[in-house]
Amino acid sequence: MHTIRIKDKEFAPFIPEAEIQARVARVAEQISRDYAGRRPVFLVVLSGAFVFAADLLRRITLEAEVCFIRLASYEGLASTGQVCQVLGLDRSIENRPVIVVEDIVDTGLTMQSLLALLASHSPESVEVCTLFLKPESLRVPLRIRYWCQELPSRFVVGYGLDYDQLGRNLPEVYALKET
Ligand code: IMP
Repeated sequence: MHTIRIKDKEFAPFIPEAEIQARVARVAEQISRDYAGRRPVFLVVLSGAFVFAADLLRRITLEAEVCFIRLASYEGLASTGQVCQVLGLDRSIENRPVIVVEDIVDTGLTMQSLLALLASHSPESVEVCTLFLKPESLRVPLRIRYWCQELPSRFVVGYGLDYDQLGRNLPEVYALKET
């Protein structure tokens, strides 16, 4: 791994592929154990979680349903945190155990409003499974049941996460270089 440039920014190597894979495998085992005998619906939040979800779900040993959702917000997309609509929820989640699969919880505002919207569909339960969590950036109280790795408040790209729509296809994670 070496420093990369995306548009105007430089990113330094941060988390190697093997480390991410090991952490994802651990969380998949945890979920498979916790939900033994049940059939959860995994709601994968696009676009950022697509790589994580592909690796996670192939390691889940449960019977599982997968549904890909997108969040629409009042001002452009998710980082404003004000989700106004969940797109792509193509089945009923009433009385079903739901696991939301997300790339990163930063301020937590996006997840907070997503959870509020999902609650109105009367699921049996909703848990959050996020690849990354930035505890120092969290601005609202959130109960996150599963996460692969805690990060400092640095901007990262790769493994599904983007900078201005680029970098999602990198198999490892890079952090924005501090100037
Ligand atoms: P939150 O509402 O502040 O928790 O932000 C959630 C969304 O912001 C995530 O789902 C990402 O799409 C985006 N985001 C937050 N931090 C990063 C980052 O370090 N890299 C790329 N996207 C990020």
